[in-house]
Amino acid sequence: MTIPDHDPTPGARPAGTSSPHEAAENIQQMFDTIAPTYDRANHLLSAGIDRSWWNRTARALRPILQRPEAVVLDLCCGTGDLTLALDKHRPHPQGVPHDRRGEAEAIVGLVSSTTLKSSGAPSMTASSSWVGCTPSASPSNPAPILALDFSHNMLSLSLPKFANKNIVPIEADALHLPLADNSVDLVTSAFGFRNLTSYPDGLAELHRVLRPGGQIAILECNQPGGLVGWLYSFYFHHILPTLGGLISGKRRAYAYLPDSVMKFPRPPQMKALIAAAGFANPTWTSYTLGTAGLYRATKS
Ligand SMILES: C[S@@+](CC[C@H](N)C(=O)[O-])C[C@H]1O[C@@H](n2cnc3c(N)ncnc32)[C@H](O)[C@@H]1O
Repeated sequence: MTIPDHDPTPGARPAGTSSPHEAAENIQQMFDTIAPTYDRANHLLSAGIDRSWWNRTARALRPILQRPEAVVLDLCCGTGDLTLALDKHRPHPQGVPHDRRGEAEAIVGLVSSTTLKSSGAPSMTASSSWVGCTPSASPSNPAPILALDFSHNMLSLSLPKFANKNIVPIEADALHLPLADNSVDLVTSAFGFRNLTSYPDGLAELHRVLRPGGQIAILECNQPGGLVGWLYSFYFHHILPTLGGLISGKRRAYAYLPDSVMKFPRPPQMKALIAAAGFANPTWTSYTLGTAGLYRATKS
């Protein structure tokens, strides 16, 4: 497999942005702005298929999710729906449900004052001790799922959904994870990875935090070929921005969506990027006629 040479640093670049830092700020602001209508727009624009994709992904990851000690990071968790699908397959803590919202809000509050610095690196110290609490995990006290996003408004909407669940939200940048090297067993991401301003840097960061044998599972949209691709493209470019704009009042955000899918590497290129980051056996499983799919690979 070879990496395409036409785009030396593949990554998200919303129209009108000229640097990775500007692009990251633009994307963060965009998700903050559309957060209040995100869930409604998402379910409507995907005709509810998004839910089946999250559930299918979670089912595929059941063998890891069922290990009580497994540290699971849901990257770019947004309003938390993939996180909830993953949680259904986790062992449940025994005894009185532990409400982690206080803890979560403390973390979110501490980190939320974070602004992207000119280097693009958020200054974040609050949650760096997080993984320290996982070694005590046991069948009756499984490790929590870490749900991470850099949009304060998206993450805030996940907090009520996470009530009384063994999930801890963390407000942080996926390109600068506040987690130790070799500390995570599984990193998932649904429709978030595509928004990173550098895919190689994102994969390198995932490789850093995963333990050897740890896995990535990245669910992303895809542009299929043939007639399905033509229909998909028509829907994405003509219907989705209009409907998304009407629901959210932010047409620009829903024009960025198809643009980012068109620019996202196709499965052969994405698998090459994953392999180049040091992961073994990259695979892609097509969902719903290739309009989405799940990338998986293992840190050897
Ligand atoms: C399309 S939403 C997906 C949310 C959720 N995973 C889902 O399936 O509905 C993409 C999310 O990625 C987050 N995101 C984008 N770039 C990020 C970054 N560099 N660090 C953390 N989160 C990021 C956005 O804030 C947004 O919540």
